[in-house]
Parts: sequence; structure tokens; C-alpha cells
Amino acid sequence: IIQFTNFMANSVFNDAYDLSFNYEKIPTEFYKNALEASKVVAKEIADLIRRKQAAGKPAVLGLATGNTPKLMYAELIRLHKEEGLSFKGVHTFNLDEYYPMQPDDINSYVRFMKTNLFDHIDIDMNNVNIPDGTIAKEDIAAFCQEYEAKIDAFGGLDIQVLGIGSNGHVGFNESGSHINSKTRLVALDYSTRYDARNDFGGLSKTPTVAISLGVHHIMNAKRVVLLAFGPGKTNIIHKACEGPVTEHVPASFLQTHPNVTFYLDEVAAAKLMKVQTPWLMGPVE
Ligand code: PGA
Repeated sequence: IIQFTNFMANSVFNDAYDLSFNYEKIPTEFYKNALEASKVVAKEIADLIRRKQAAGKPAVLGLATGNTPKLMYAELIRLHKEEGLSFKGVHTFNLDEYYPMQPDDINSYVRFMKTNLFDHIDIDMNNVNIPDGTIAKEDIAAFCQEYEAKIDAFGGLDIQVLGIGSNGHVGFNESGSHINSKTRLVALDYSTRYDARNDFGGLSKTPTVAISLGVHHIMNAKRVVLLAFGPGKTNIIHKACEGPVTEHVPASFLQTHPNVTFYLDEVAAAKLMKVQTPWLMGPVE
């Protein structure tokens, strides 16, 4: 009632009342289904690539794996094949890789990226960066520093694409990750391993550690787009968007990012205030 009264006071007495104002801590857009949302994100990436190419500059993309971005990659492939989108001059940095992991393993993220995107577009594979699951343990720290230095040399990522774990992880930055965490070897949460168990033929065969880009470089991206679809994401999207900013839910750090949007389907968005109680968010129409 207090918020509603404030809202009415704003609308009646403030001439400069901005119709776009709302109470979202993270801007969200939701669509009928995953395909529609994925097309919107693919178009944003395509526009960025074309803009950079026109300016003679590299486009630097931060990419994610998992089920969620597959339709978005399929749309990028379609844009390449049917609408002339070229990936010349595009540089990519993937978020993470299991460790240890051979690139040709069925579960490697190298394999994932080739199958779902790189094999079908004209990207120069020398411009593709994915954390290396084959390096010796004692070399991981230096590798991670180099990975970050390479991103920094471009002036940071132009856009970071993210999914979200059912526990709120981004990349493999699990609950407890610091907002300034660096690229590093991380222990995977039980929930993350549980979610991945079918890919590996059971929990006991699922990796326990991975190399992940830290939260710091995700937060440093000029633009962040997070995709989340389906009932498995409804609760965590609610927490990340409307709960407190907390390291228990690393995606909640994005509430402090200046240029982030969450792209959701209706199911993932179902618990958001703008779906449940839209009159708290802005003008009643
Ligand atoms: P998913 O994983 O896309 O397979 O749901 C997302 C994540 O764990 O970040």
C-alpha cells in the first residue's frame, strides 16, 4: 500500500514522471518461449559484430555453454548462413571448462562450442579462447592470469553471455564466490554436479573441479545478457533479480552491473514482481 501510494503521488504530482521507471533491480525481458528470447539476444550480438566490423574493430564476445544458449547459437548460425553475418574479426572467450578435460571429449566445452557454433560459421579458430582443461595443475594459475590479460588487452569483453545455475552460479562461480574473484580452478557445487550428472553417466563420474572466469571479469564486461528458461530457473531468477546482493547467489552481483538484461521465458519469469504484482512496478494501465 505504501509503495502504491508513493507511486500515485509520483504520477499525480511529478510532471516529469517517467513512464519507463520501475522497481526492477535487474532489467528483465520475458518472451513466450526460449526461441523468441534467443532470437532477440542473437540479433543484439549480430548487430554488435556488424557495428564493430564497420568500425574496423574486433568484437570481443564472452560465451557460455550449457543447454540454455543452444537456440541462440543456432540463430547466429542461421544469420551467418542466410543473412550474411560474418564472424571475421570476432574474438571469443568462453567462461569455463571442466578440469581435467580433453578437447575431443564428448563433454568438453571445446567440443560443445564447435558442435553448437564454431563448426558452422566463418570464425578464425585462432581467435577462439576456451579455458584449457589439459594443462598441468601447477600451470593453471599462470594460464588463468594469461587468459585475463588477453581479455584486458582488448579492453574487456564487449558482451558477456550467461546462463544461470539452479544455485545461482554464473560461469562456474559457485555460491560463496567473491565479486572480485579471479579466473581460477574452482570446486563444483554438489548441485552443479547433480545437474550435470546425466551428461557424465552418473554423479560419481561427474568432474569435481573446473576452470572458470572469475566474477570480476564478468562484471567488467561492457554489456551482460543472461538467459534463463524453464521451470528449473524460476526460483533462482526470482532470488537473483529481487533478493539481496549476496555471494550466496553470485548472479545477484549483476544487480550492480550498469548494463545488464536478463532474457527469460514466461516460466522462468513467473515469480518476478512484474509478473506477480505488476502494479508495484509502474503505471496501472
Ligand atoms: P544450463 O546451465 O544452461 O544447462 O541450464 C546453465 C549454467 O549452469 O550456467
